[in-house]
Amino acid sequence: MIVDHLSASTILPPYFVVEGRAQLWRHKPMSKSSFSSGISRRHFLATAGWGLAAPTIIPASALGRDDQPAPSNRIVVGMVGWGMMGPGDTAELMKLPDCQVVAACDVDKEHLKGALDGINGHYKNQDCKPYHDYREMMARKDIDAVMLAVPDHWHALVATEAANNKKDIYGEKPLARTIAEQQAMVKAVQKNKRVWQTGSWQRSQGRYRQAAETVRNGLIGKLTRVEVGLLAGNLDYAGGGKMTPTEPPERLDYDFWLGPSAMEPYIEGRVHKNWRWNYNTGGGQLLDWIGHHCDIAHWGMGNDATIGPLEIEGHGDFPPKDAVWNTCTKYRIELKYPNDITMVIAGGYDDIRNGTKWIGTDGWVWVDRDGHDASNTDWLAEVPPDKYTVKLYRSVDHHRNFIECVKSRQPTITPIEVAHHSAIPGHLGLISMLVGRKIKWDAAKEVILGDAEASKLLTRPYRSPWKLAWAA
Ligand SMILES: NC(=O)c1ccc[n+]([C@@H]2O[C@H](COP(=O)([O-])OP(=O)(O)OC[C@H]3O[C@@H](n4cnc5c(N)ncnc54)[C@H](O)[C@@H]3O)[C@@H](O)[C@H]2O)c1
Repeated sequence: MIVDHLSASTILPPYFVVEGRAQLWRHKPMSKSSFSSGISRRHFLATAGWGLAAPTIIPASALGRDDQPAPSNRIVVGMVGWGMMGPGDTAELMKLPDCQVVAACDVDKEHLKGALDGINGHYKNQDCKPYHDYREMMARKDIDAVMLAVPDHWHALVATEAANNKKDIYGEKPLARTIAEQQAMVKAVQKNKRVWQTGSWQRSQGRYRQAAETVRNGLIGKLTRVEVGLLAGNLDYAGGGKMTPTEPPERLDYDFWLGPSAMEPYIEGRVHKNWRWNYNTGGGQLLDWIGHHCDIAHWGMGNDATIGPLEIEGHGDFPPKDAVWNTCTKYRIELKYPNDITMVIAGGYDDIRNGTKWIGTDGWVWVDRDGHDASNTDWLAEVPPDKYTVKLYRSVDHHRNFIECVKSRQPTITPIEVAHHSAIPGHLGLISMLVGRKIKWDAAKEVILGDAEASKLLTRPYRSPWKLAWAA
């Protein structure tokens, strides 16, 4: 049923090259005083001069292994969330010789045990420390970076805690459950000068870059329309027997799992993997996939972190109001962008092909996990970098790119600002569907214009005692 999870280990190539890296956000170079005494072992990590605070060093006693780079050259990682996506992301990081996973956190004891078994089994030691509360793990000074694969309703709290504790972050898409949470995360990452990589791994796949480069170099003429085809929603809202309220299983701290979301009686169909089908915790297929195909759409449009849609009109079919799985089953959103560009995002409509399609005055290009097609087949070949004026950031291994950027302090291929903008059209489309009318968006100020009811949905109430800490 859930197909947004091709395991990273089956998709990503084993190593990377980065060519023609675009400088998306230039940070102020680090002052000399940033390299104060006592940090010589990590000096190498900060030499790129991007002004992002460098990782801490690794205690050699804890991590020494003869066949790996010296401990001081390894990035120490903690992971949170060993569910469907966490194990694959962790496996990709553990494959990298200059990275060492030393801590795992989950609020489900069986998942946490799975994490420890998987991580310690990989390293053939018992060094990985278990955590129930991510805040304790984030407080560890020896951890440089964290990988976060928790449900969407937790992204903002865990990521801001990580950023405020000076961790670099590999965080899953979509950036968060609401736009206001995303804004808090962007601020926390920027203020703390952290390196951020989003789990929008399609950008590290050559065919997506090739397709986006065709559009960015004007081969299809003036861009007029972009079609973003996502999966239809979950039609099985009766839940196949998972909807009977019971006591939570002893292994799961359900209260912690719900965290900032509204308290609802425990039902198996609300938790692991299924949280995406209820707006209390997820955003349905629309938000699950927006960080993939709309992310690629924006890459081709060239508005990664600058402009956004101006008008958004969404229509959706929804399950009965009392359904536990209440996310829309079918949806169609039309968005007006500057320069007379229309974007259509749809799930469950046959006229919109799954994947991303850009249509221009001189032709079209389409790309998806299954293929790459164009009105002119010449555009399907890889073009030598010197033949195009616009050369997009190249990475062929998403996790490798993250670790390289943690060391170099340069932006990754999917920094947090990109993830924020890639998800905004999905959030606004959902808001338009929920209020039942077209909404207008001020992309510079990031506010909905003249609609108090819709504006309320930019955020959501947090259940006590959880509070979103803005950049500390
Ligand atoms: N990049 C991709 O291709 C891709 C694919 C699938 C999912 N995802 C994303 O990965 C994230 C996780 O999705 P999933 O399907 O793996 O979910 P899941 O429910 O299978 O796993 C989430 C895990 O996090 C744990 N957890 C929840 N709250 C926690 C907390 N506060 N502290 C510690 N652990 C906590 C749960 O117990 C569970 O083990 C989501 O954001 C999802 O959108 C990305």
